[in-house]
Amino acid sequence: MGTVLAIDAGTTGIRTIAFDETGTPVDQAYRELTQHYPAPGWVEHDPEEIWTGVADTLAEVAGRLDAAGRGPVAAIGITNQRETALAWDRATGRPRHRAIVWQDRRTADRCDALRDAGRLPVIRERTGLVLDSYFSATKWEWMLGPGGVEPGAGLALGTVDSWVLYQLTGGAGRGILATDVTNASRTLAFDIGALAWDAELVDLFGLPARSLPEVMPSSGRFGVTARAFGALPAGTPISGVAGDQQAALFGQACFTPGMTKNTYGTGSFVLMNVGSDRPRSPEGLLATVAWDLGQVPRPAGVPRVAYALEGSVFVTGAAIQWLRDGLGIITEAAETGPLAATVADTEGVYFVPALAGMGSPYWDPDARGAIVGLTRGSGRAHLARSAVEAMGFQTRDVVQAMARASGAEVGAMRVDGGASVMDLLLQFQADLLQAPVARAAVVDTTALGAAWLAGLAEGVWGSLDELSDQWRADARFDPGVGPDVADARMAGWHRALERARGWARR
Ligand SMILES: Nc1ncnc2c1ncn2[C@@H]1O[C@H](COP(=O)(O)OP(=O)(O)OP(=O)(O)O)[C@@H](O)[C@H]1O
Ligand SMILES: [Mg+2]
Repeated sequence: MGTVLAIDAGTTGIRTIAFDETGTPVDQAYRELTQHYPAPGWVEHDPEEIWTGVADTLAEVAGRLDAAGRGPVAAIGITNQRETALAWDRATGRPRHRAIVWQDRRTADRCDALRDAGRLPVIRERTGLVLDSYFSATKWEWMLGPGGVEPGAGLALGTVDSWVLYQLTGGAGRGILATDVTNASRTLAFDIGALAWDAELVDLFGLPARSLPEVMPSSGRFGVTARAFGALPAGTPISGVAGDQQAALFGQACFTPGMTKNTYGTGSFVLMNVGSDRPRSPEGLLATVAWDLGQVPRPAGVPRVAYALEGSVFVTGAAIQWLRDGLGIITEAAETGPLAATVADTEGVYFVPALAGMGSPYWDPDARGAIVGLTRGSGRAHLARSAVEAMGFQTRDVVQAMARASGAEVGAMRVDGGASVMDLLLQFQADLLQAPVARAAVVDTTALGAAWLAGLAEGVWGSLDELSDQWRADARFDPGVGPDVADARMAGWHRALERARGWARR
C-alpha cells in the first residue's frame, strides 16, 4: 500500500505522521524539543536531540504501521523549521555547534552593519529577502567567527532538513549533504532567480562553498535510509523536502497563482503563489521559492518552479504561550478561544505582541510588546481576546501589502496551524479581510505537503489534480461585518502599533 511518512522537524517539537493514499493521517508520534536561551535574544536547539526525535518518532510510527499491516512505506518526506543554522562534522556526523534558531537575534548588529555598508540592495535583488538576523547566513558567519567552528574540508553547513537527511542517509562519513530550493531560499546566500548559491553572497558571509549542501528540487529522490528504524527498513526512499511554510502552501493545494494560505503557529506565515516569474522585491514582504517539482507530471499551465510572496509575522501563537508561561492567566493554550469568547469585544484593549521585534510588513527589530487601552474593567478575557485579535490584525496588514505588491485583491484564504482551531479567530479574520477564510480538514498541512511532495516522486500520486481533489475544508468563515467596521478596527490597531514601533531605540 502507499503509506507515506512525513517528518515535521518543527521549532517546538518533532512529529512523524503517516498518511494513506487518500491523504488522511493514520498515525503519528511526537517529541517536544528543548529550547535553550543562553542569553537575552538568543535561542538554540541541540542537533542531537532533533535527530533523536526524528529517529524515535520514525521507529514508533513504523512499528504501529507494521502491526496494523499497513506497510511498506513508499516514501518519506521531510519538512522543517526554516532558517535555523547548523554546523557538523562530515566524518563523525556530530554537531560542531548548537543549532542557532530562526528566532535568535544575536546577529542583529551585524545586519545593521551590512545595511550601513550598502549591502541591502544586492541582497534584496538576489535573495528576495531583507537584511534581518532571522535568516541563516549571518548565523553561520557567527559560528565561524573567532574561536568558533573551523572551516576545514570536513565541515558541513546546513539547515534542519539537511541535518536530518544527512543522518537518515548514513551520517558519519557517508550521509548525503543536500537541501531543497525552498530551504536554500531562506539562507540569504541563494540566488532565487538562478536557483543556485550566489558566489558573491557566499563570499560576503565568509562561508566555505564546499561546506554548503547541494540544492535539489523539492520533489525527487534525495537518497534512501541507510539503516532500519524499528520496522522501517533500510532502503526506504526520501523523496520530498520543503521548508515548513512552503510545505503548508503545497499541502493546502495552493497550486495556481493567486491562491493564498496562512498558518497560525508560533508565528504566522502568509504565502501567496505568484507563479513562475520571480517576483521583484515586494515592499514589506519577502519573495521566496514555493517549490521546484522536478520531474513530477504537471497539468498544463502548472510550471515546474513556482514562487511565492511571503509575509512572516514572528509572534502570534507565541503570544498565547506568553499569556500562559509569562503571565499565568491561562494554564493551556486551548483555554484561549473559550476565554476570549466570554467577552463580546476587548473594550478598547489592544495587545501588540512585538515580543521578538516585528517581521512583515513592518520589519522593526526595535519594536517591543505593548498593551494599551486598559481600564478598571479590563480582565484576563479582554487580554486573551486582544491576543487573538492581534493575529488577525497582523495578518490583515500583511495581506494589504500583498495586494499592493501583486496588484490583485487577495481572495479566499486557506488556513491551518495550531491556533486555527479557534473559530473566533477565523471569524475575526474574515471580518478584517472582507474575504472568506477556509480551514483545512487536515490541520497538519505542513506534514501533508511534505508527504505529497515525496509520494508524487515515488508514484503514490500521479498528478497535482489528484491532490487538489483530496483537499477538503472543514469550516468556512464569511465576513459578518461591513468594510467600515473592519476599517475602524484596523485604525485602532494602528494607533496601538504606533506605541510599540521603535521602542528599544527611543
Ligand atoms: N487549542 C488551541 N487554541 C489556541 N491556540 C492554540 C491551541 N493549540 C495551540 N495553539 C497555539 O498554536 C501554536 C502552535 O501551533 P503549531 O503547532 O502549528 O506551531 P508551529 O509554529 O508549527 O510549531 P513548530 O515550529 O514546532 O511546528 C502555539 O503557539 C499555541 O499557542
Ligand atoms: Mg510547524
